[in-house]
Amino acid sequence: MTRMPAHLRAELGQLVEAVSALSGMDFRRYQRSALLRRVLHTVDQEGAGSIAGLVSKVRTDRDCLQRLRAAMMLHVTSLFRDEGYYREVRKNIGFLATYPSSQLWVAACSTGPEVMSYRILLHEAGLAQRCRVYATDLSESAIAQAQAGQFEDHQLAEYERNYLLAGGQGRLTDYCTRVDGRWRFNAALLDDVVFGVHNLLTDASFNDFQFISCRNVTMYFDPQGQSRVHTLLHQSLRPFGYLGLGLSESLMHSPYREDYRQTHPGEPLYRKIR
Ligand SMILES: C[S@@+](CC[C@H](N)C(=O)[O-])C[C@H]1O[C@@H](n2cnc3c(N)ncnc32)[C@H](O)[C@@H]1O
Repeated sequence: MTRMPAHLRAELGQLVEAVSALSGMDFRRYQRSALLRRVLHTVDQEGAGSIAGLVSKVRTDRDCLQRLRAAMMLHVTSLFRDEGYYREVRKNIGFLATYPSSQLWVAACSTGPEVMSYRILLHEAGLAQRCRVYATDLSESAIAQAQAGQFEDHQLAEYERNYLLAGGQGRLTDYCTRVDGRWRFNAALLDDVVFGVHNLLTDASFNDFQFISCRNVTMYFDPQGQSRVHTLLHQSLRPFGYLGLGLSESLMHSPYREDYRQTHPGEPLYRKIR
């Protein structure tokens, strides 16, 4: 990766301080390189001329601040994103049957397809009634979308393909219905999910879980942020529980990496072994 020029780094630092102070959402632990592209895009969109110009604008324009805040939080997601990962989860999920009841946390769930992936998987493993799913994200609007459980026509083909490649045992349309020109996941999939806003960098552990999925979010945090999140995940995961990460993520900055064993080389699914 090329080094960020010093003046850009300094301006970006000022912007991060300003947005964190003004919006109450702390972006100081986010990797600067991951933020830069989105900030430069916002500079263009807002006609601010430079990052320094954007700093001045967010100080006086509340709407601009909200737009920038939304741009800094990327919500890219999909149903059964990374099918190999979900095939690996399918192989291991049966351990939940050894508990009379269990809890699974989808942290940083974005707009919801990841939550529906686990609900479908639990259903196909005969565990849907025995496992309570908790779904959280920093963004209130993402959580509201996740709760609505809807998706567009143009997403159906990708979702169906991912579902089948991930080892789906039926048809995706068994789990959703077309209503008013959009697809909606069946109420039975959504009903038992507890949705809430939770900040992985600042909020405390709120329960203990047999399975935690925290995918494609720690990669946006600096090493100190990753260490903080992994401490929280370790506290929240029961012994012998499973932790799922994204394909570009690892336990490198976890103070507890020795407590986990990867279930299969190449797949970011880990079991807490002590
Ligand atoms: C790229 S999406 C990943 C979504 C999903 N986990 C997946 O893998 O498809 C990253 C999500 O992390 C959320 N996020 C960013 N910072 C967060 C934080 N400090 N605490 C909780 N969620 C956060 C964003 O709002 C966004 O929805």
